[in-house]
Parts: sequence; C-alpha cells; structure tokens
Amino acid sequence: MGKDVIVACDFASAEQTFAFLDKFTGRKPFVKIGMELYYAEGPAIVKEIKARGHKIFLDLKLHDIPNTVKKAMAVLRNLDVDITNLHAAGTKNMMRAALEGLTREDGTRSLLIAVTQLTSTDQQSMEEDLLIEKPIDQVVMHYASCAKDAGLDGIVCSPLEAGKVHDSCGANFLTITPGVRFADGDVGDQKRVMTPAQAKEIGSDYIVVGRPITAAADPVAAYERCVAEFCD
Ligand code: C5P
Repeated sequence: MGKDVIVACDFASAEQTFAFLDKFTGRKPFVKIGMELYYAEGPAIVKEIKARGHKIFLDLKLHDIPNTVKKAMAVLRNLDVDITNLHAAGTKNMMRAALEGLTREDGTRSLLIAVTQLTSTDQQSMEEDLLIEKPIDQVVMHYASCAKDAGLDGIVCSPLEAGKVHDSCGANFLTITPGVRFADGDVGDQKRVMTPAQAKEIGSDYIVVGRPITAAADPVAAYERCVAEFCD
C-alpha cells in the first residue's frame, strides 16, 4: 500500500458516520474506526463501511495477555480490515501472539501496527506512574525496535518521529502519523503538529487526520487538500 490519508471517523454513531461518508461521492477515503464508534456499533459498522468500498484502519489498541490477544485477533481477522493495532507495551510475546492470531490459514493478514507511548503520556507521568525513567524518545524508539523484532509492520508515531523511526527500523517499516494540521488551521488539543506537506517531506507513510476534515465546512475539499499536499 502506498502513501495515503486516513480519515479518523471519531463519531458516536453509525448515523453520524454515514452522514459524513455520504458526502464523498468521488474518491473514497481510507477510514479509521476507533473505540468509540466500534463499541457503539459493533463489528457491523466495519462490515458496512468496507462494503461501501473504503479501506479500514481498525484502531482498537489491544493490550492483554498473549493468549487473549491472539484469540481476539483471530476474531478480528474475519473483519478483513487493512490495518489494525495493539500496544507495544504488551511485550514482544504479546505482539508475536497477535500476529499468529491475525494470520489466516492461507498466510494473508491485515497490517499490524504498534502504539508506542501515547502522546498523552509525558516524561513526568511515565516516570511517576509507570516507573520508566529513560527519556521518552528513547522509550518510543525502543518500543519501535521491539515491534520490528516481533515481526510487526510499523508503528503509530508523531510525524516528527517518522524520519528517526525509518532511520533505525528501515524504510519499509511503516509510520502512521496523527497530529496533522493545515498551515492555516486550528491546532486544537494536539501539541506537536505538522502539515500534510511536511509529513510527506519527513517520510510518513500514512497520515491520520480527524477534525481538520470532519469539522471542516467542506469536508470533501479539506480531504482533497490533504491528498494533494500529502500524496500527489
Ligand atoms: O482530530 P485529530 O486530527 O486530532 O484526530 C487524530 C486522531 O488520531 C484521533 O482519532 C486520535 O485519537 C488519534 N491519535 C492521536 N494521537 C496519538 C494516537 C492516536 O491523535 N498519539
């Protein structure tokens, strides 16, 4: 899969999601389904969006004992999404078990991506709450290399980290980067942001864009602008 813009459909219901997706009569965006929408609507929402012709990143961030994650992934694999994810903090054993669960009998599977440290975790909370005392950027790079060792396809990271991740884990190790804003747009609650053009420049493989598209006066125009800046 090449570079693409993934639209974060952070909606509370199928109704709101379809009202949004109905606007896209031309190119069908790659869609991210997160916990809110998935827990509200269940697996049916994944099947319905897929049936409309969208690629899907199912962002459920699994984290449990290896056996449980393996079994959960074996269920999720039937949804046939393009990308799904888990927490690297679950350890390499958990990541390997997840890959086993996700892989179909014919050897095919969805891409599997690791979340490293969430951007909501800062150095202080990592040290105080998790007793991890290394610098956070070292922790992120270590989790990335664990994900690579375990056989995963890439990580979610800030666009600012994408270049470093490619340098240490290889050009083919995928970087999926949220925190994208237009140069003339609202930053909102995102702290470290880049424009789609800058994310392209630094080598992000996929950008995840939510509110700059979902809350735009003209979401289709905002999406096309992202695609033009990032993909073309
Ligand atoms: O609306 P916005 O463009 O900020 O949405 C970004 C999306 O990426 C949201 O779904 C958010 O949960 C997700 N995300 C993030 N930062 C991370 C991981 C995921 O913003 N570190």
